[in-house]
Amino acid sequence: MRILFLGDVVGISGCSKIMNNLKSEIEKKNIDFVILNGENSSEPGVGLNIETCKDFFNCGVDVITTGNHVWDQKEIMSYIEKENRLLRPFNLYEPSPGKGFEIYETSQKIKIGVLNLMGNVFMKKCDDVFTISKKFMKDYKLKKDYDLLIVDFHGEITSEKNAIGHFFDGQATLVVGTHTHIPTNDARILNNGTGYQTDAGMCGDYDSVIGMNKENSINRFLKEKSTKHYPAVGEATLSGVIVDSNIETGLAKNIESYIFGGQLKNTL
Ligand SMILES: [Fe+2]
Repeated sequence: MRILFLGDVVGISGCSKIMNNLKSEIEKKNIDFVILNGENSSEPGVGLNIETCKDFFNCGVDVITTGNHVWDQKEIMSYIEKENRLLRPFNLYEPSPGKGFEIYETSQKIKIGVLNLMGNVFMKKCDDVFTISKKFMKDYKLKKDYDLLIVDFHGEITSEKNAIGHFFDGQATLVVGTHTHIPTNDARILNNGTGYQTDAGMCGDYDSVIGMNKENSINRFLKEKSTKHYPAVGEATLSGVIVDSNIETGLAKNIESYIFGGQLKNTL
């Protein structure tokens, strides 16, 4: 089973790259299941819209994860209640609309659990991610409740992401970070068999500051007056990881970074 996880899709640039290339990439790379973090895909670069979610599903995405910007486009609050392929962080304060964990069954009857978590350090307030994860691993078990488990950890700092990776080691097929929009060069299989990369990077224009217009971003750091902040509109790079899993154990057999198009160098 080969799973492609794509990092945060940013704005129109990221969306159009997905729409125009994902189907052929799925075929070329023999991908069986696609997860993408869509929380920056709307036109202003924060939140996501219903139409975009539908477009993602139509071009081959199986599950959309999110993070701190999940509710920035309000229409998503009711949509998430009826669309179980869209997840919000599991550790949001309850009650929150939607779910942060779901089990999906593929056409080959393989059960894939997808868990969307959010970090606590420098992020919006949410329940303690380690306490929630500990309980989750008590309630759900790999190869009992699902064949594979993919964890999207939406967090700001590398140490918290790294710790969550080790915390799930042996209990998940893949733990991958999102939110910081820069792919890290540390894809590997941890000691107990979980595939891991600290951040998947973004699907967006890298001639930018984490996907947003670079001049505006610099002006904001200079505290100078900037025009309305918006995503960069150049050609996007698709960035993420591909994990090959062992269905018998539910663990990772191989993990590779995935980079396609735009300013970053193709690695696959
Ligand atoms: Fe985020």
